Amino acid sequence: MAKKQYVYRIDDLPFTPLVEKEGIVTQFLLGDNIQISFIQNPPGATFPLHSHEAEQILIMLEGTEEHEIDGQKIHMEAGDVCIHPGNVMHGGVTLTGFKGIDIFSPPRTDKGGHVERMISYKTMPDSEGKYPANKIETKVPTWFKGVLAALRAKK
Ligand SMILES: [Fe+2]
Repeated sequence: MAKKQYVYRIDDLPFTPLVEKEGIVTQFLLGDNIQISFIQNPPGATFPLHSHEAEQILIMLEGTEEHEIDGQKIHMEAGDVCIHPGNVMHGGVTLTGFKGIDIFSPPRTDKGGHVERMISYKTMPDSEGKYPANKIETKVPTWFKGVLAALRAKK
C-alpha cells in the first residue's frame, strides 16, 4: 500500500479555475473539515458577490482589493485579513491584482462550490492524498515566490 502524503509544496498543487471569465485561479489543499485556497486574481478582476454556508477567512498577501462584505466596501491590502461568516454576501474588485489565502471551514461542498469545481477540473486528491499534476498553463508566476520576495524587500 502506498504511503499517505501529508506534506506538499504549494507550487505543486494543481490550479483550479474559480471565476473563468475573470482569469481567477486557485490552488486548493483539501482536508476533512477545512479547505485552503491559494488564490490569484489578475489586475482588473472582479470576484462576483456571493455567499456560502462555509465560514471563510481571507488573508491578503500581495496587491489590493476593493472588498465588499455585508454591504460594506473596504479597501484591503497585504497584511489585512477578513472574516466572512456563513451566508454573508461578499466579493470584490482588484485593480492591482492580488494574491491571498482563503481558508474555508468546512470545505465548500455547496452546489457550484469548491469541491464540485475540484471534481469537474480533476484536481481532487486521491485516497492517498496525492494531487494530480498541474494541467492548467498559467503565465502567472507562482505566488509564493512573490510573497517571499515582498517579505525580504520589507526587511
Ligand atoms: Fe466566498
